[in-house]
Amino acid sequence: MEESGLSNKRAQRAANVKKAAETLNSFPIYIDNTNRKIRAFSKFCFDIEVLILKKGTIPGAKDGVFLAFARILYRMAIPMEKFITVTNQKGGVGKTTTSLSLINALHMRGRRVLGVDLDPQGSLGFSAGLDIENSTTVYDVFKGTASVEQAIVPTDLGDILPSNILLSTAELEFNSPGREYMLKNELQKIAHLYDHIIIDTPPALNVLTVNAYVASDALIIPMAPEILSLLGISQILDTINTVRKYYNPNLRVLGILLNKYNMRLTLNREVLELSAEIARRLDTKVFETKIRTSVTVAEAPAHGESVLSYAPNSNPALDFQNLLDELMGNPRPWPPRR
Ligand SMILES: Nc1ncnc2c1ncn2[C@@H]1O[C@H](COP(=O)(O)OP(=O)(O)O)[C@@H](O)[C@H]1O
Ligand SMILES: [Mg+2]
Repeated sequence: MEESGLSNKRAQRAANVKKAAETLNSFPIYIDNTNRKIRAFSKFCFDIEVLILKKGTIPGAKDGVFLAFARILYRMAIPMEKFITVTNQKGGVGKTTTSLSLINALHMRGRRVLGVDLDPQGSLGFSAGLDIENSTTVYDVFKGTASVEQAIVPTDLGDILPSNILLSTAELEFNSPGREYMLKNELQKIAHLYDHIIIDTPPALNVLTVNAYVASDALIIPMAPEILSLLGISQILDTINTVRKYYNPNLRVLGILLNKYNMRLTLNREVLELSAEIARRLDTKVFETKIRTSVTVAEAPAHGESVLSYAPNSNPALDFQNLLDELMGNPRPWPPRR
């Protein structure tokens, strides 16, 4: 009797060891730097989270430790900056398109993502289908008449902190010392709720842009080939350097993103050379991934969708997914294959 109890226990232990070994063996696939596996790992962490939340009880200490462990592993696998600002003082280069696409791509992969609109034109929230005229916005948050939690709206594309035209008075209205930290202070209150926070900025270098830079780990600078020029580079560099010197020494420029890229254009060599020169001056690189032109990009906002949800197989949608892979340390071959 005792014999069989013992052998049962042994068998059980052997099974446990085998299971643990299998888990350990399968672990390296998660940190393997290939796209499919990163996605699998992302899903794995997400599933754990859902499982814990589904239990419907307050997570116990064990769950908490497990969750923290899953998140640490995820961070190891996907070393992407948490606070990213999309910036360029020129309008029409694709800041809002890039912001919303990254937000939606992260959301699709199960990441907890917040998009922040700092442009008084309110395009980010509008494109995500929000009624920005009648919303509580980032302006109310800066004024102190609403909390940041009250202003954030969950959407199908990801959470959004919208903006509207009221924010255009920011430069004049918010003039007390420390005004460069308004956004950073607010985001700190909710940062633990998100894996990534993507900030869309106005076509300007003003107090709002500085607020975004102060709150960010890194910048992405979209550019459109038709208005690509060295003009304006020194202004953006001055702003970056000022922010680095006084407010945020760790601010990095992740890269120049070529948007509205036409592969057939004979001008392409010049475009690539010029963008490489711009990148050199900003001490950064041109992303391998370029975003191709498609009418689907212009159509999506009218449906309250991102180009990824509106036309997932269109060129720009595939390119933005590739951009996210590249940001996560997993470059795809360029030109893209379908
Ligand atoms: N890859 C693209 N293909 C086609 N149209 C694009 C592309 N990227 C942006 N656009 C269009 O260009 C315009 C400006 O883009 P937007 O993202 O609003 O720029 P910004 O925020 O820098 O002002 C929009 O009408 C948008 O639909
Ligand atoms: Mg915009």
